[in-house]
Amino acid sequence: MGKMVIYPGSFDPITNGHLSIVRRALTMFDSITIAVASKPMKKTLFTLDERVDLIQESIKNDDRIFVDSFNGLLVDYVDGKKTNIVLRGMRALSDFEYEFQMSLMNRKLNKNIQTIFMMTDYKWLYTSSTIIKEAASYGGAVGGLVPDVVCQKLKEKFGFQ
Ligand code: COA
Repeated sequence: MGKMVIYPGSFDPITNGHLSIVRRALTMFDSITIAVASKPMKKTLFTLDERVDLIQESIKNDDRIFVDSFNGLLVDYVDGKKTNIVLRGMRALSDFEYEFQMSLMNRKLNKNIQTIFMMTDYKWLYTSSTIIKEAASYGGAVGGLVPDVVCQKLKEKFGFQ
């Protein structure tokens, strides 16, 4: 088994920004597990099953990418895995404080866990799941920012289809 990394998040829903991180991570790791938090702090638009399904449909059949979900603490989930590396994407300086805090808290909870960060591509700097959902809720065109299946699902959710 090669080197693997865990990419956690709420993925509500997965965006092209997330997928770009996944693809770039695969140039450094042999496999990646996208770990979907079942109950993140923020209220989600999509159920856990929907978020997982949308990821699965977006990654097509790449046997280096696994999709999983977890309950409770991230460090406990990672502890049971064959890696101690967690990957997070970083968009702008505004992400830094939150990410810094989270990675230090995770290290306090389990000093074996290492968090690494990748800068997102400039194309996705201004996007986030929240802003995409907001635009979609008013019928805004979000094609190109999210995979086609997500675009479709957002239209259905907000009654534009
Ligand atoms: N391009 C575009 N947008 C991106 C992006 C990229 N490359 N990378 C992240 N984002 C956006 C996401 O769309 C999301 O936007 P939103 O806040 O509007 O929803 C935001 O950045 C971050 O989301 P995501 O990457 O999905 O992660 P998250 O911050 O929602 O996930 C958990 C946080 C789930 C990893 C964290 O809360 C956790 O581990 N929870 C379990 C409990 C725990 O252990 N807590 C920590 C210790 S107390």
